[in-house]
Amino acid sequence: MARGFLPSLLRLLRGKPHLPPSLADNPLLLALVRRRSVRSFRIREIPDDIWSAILEAGRLAPSTVNLQSWSFVLFTSATWQERFERPIPFHAPRGLILLGDTHRNRQVLEAFPIAPLVEYTIAVMNASLAAMAMNIAAEALGVSSVMLSETGRSGLLDAGYLKMKLALPPSVYPLMTILFGYSAAPSPPMPPKLPLEAIAFPGIYRETERAVMEDWLAQMKAGYKASHLFRTSFEDQLAVYRSKIHQAEHDLEEMVFGEQAACRLQEPGE
Ligand SMILES: Cc1cc2nc3c(=O)[nH]c(=O)nc-3n(C[C@H](O)[C@H](O)[C@H](O)COP(=O)(O)O)c2cc1C
Repeated sequence: MARGFLPSLLRLLRGKPHLPPSLADNPLLLALVRRRSVRSFRIREIPDDIWSAILEAGRLAPSTVNLQSWSFVLFTSATWQERFERPIPFHAPRGLILLGDTHRNRQVLEAFPIAPLVEYTIAVMNASLAAMAMNIAAEALGVSSVMLSETGRSGLLDAGYLKMKLALPPSVYPLMTILFGYSAAPSPPMPPKLPLEAIAFPGIYRETERAVMEDWLAQMKAGYKASHLFRTSFEDQLAVYRSKIHQAEHDLEEMVFGEQAACRLQEPGE
């Protein structure tokens, strides 16, 4: 398969969701497959009822033993500017910082004693489900969104900074920012999604062929080049992530294991 810029870009642009024709009009499926990460918003407020419905979708999301181990710190563009002393990314009218939160329920129970990694993973899983529920609710109501872990210094890679800025107690972990608003441009093309056979296997794990991954990477690079008008490459973007990863790893380690390190040294029942 040719992997040059143009053939890869053409394959990328030809990528389409595959919905069975019998279900192609289902409104929920359409919201799911039409959702794209949007990085440019119109100057237009989100009405209060729509914003409330988006948050309600997050509040009602499923979670491990119904622990609801998440928090949402809410912002308008003005309160974002006030808190972080810089504009909200992409001119979004609304945003939230999603936190994994196992602090709140500690008031009434010790759900996962001395298991910081399990507890952290559970908080991340649950909060991520709430995130997706909010994104899909938004999409269904005509509101676009994007999740951010790096852009805007307000995601996982800036965990230490956010802990300080948002006055986070122990066992509360910054995960991502989600921005919401009305898209300023037509929906961006679907980025290259792996074929179903590469990610879903009957009964037992199966390695993905290298050619499939090489094709995906070539499409990623071509899409990046085209959408950033040749100014920044996919590799440049990865380098931004890598430049922040050591600090983030250190900050997270402290947040996840820090306050429980002493407990971890003791076996349960000691
Ligand atoms: C947890 C998470 C963090 C992300 N962080 C960023 C980010 O920092 N900056 C950005 O431009 N996009 C970010 N994205 C958006 C992804 O780039 C996007 O989801 C991916 O390219 C697939 O595109 P799609 O959402 O349109 O399907 C993030 C997405 C997720 C789920």
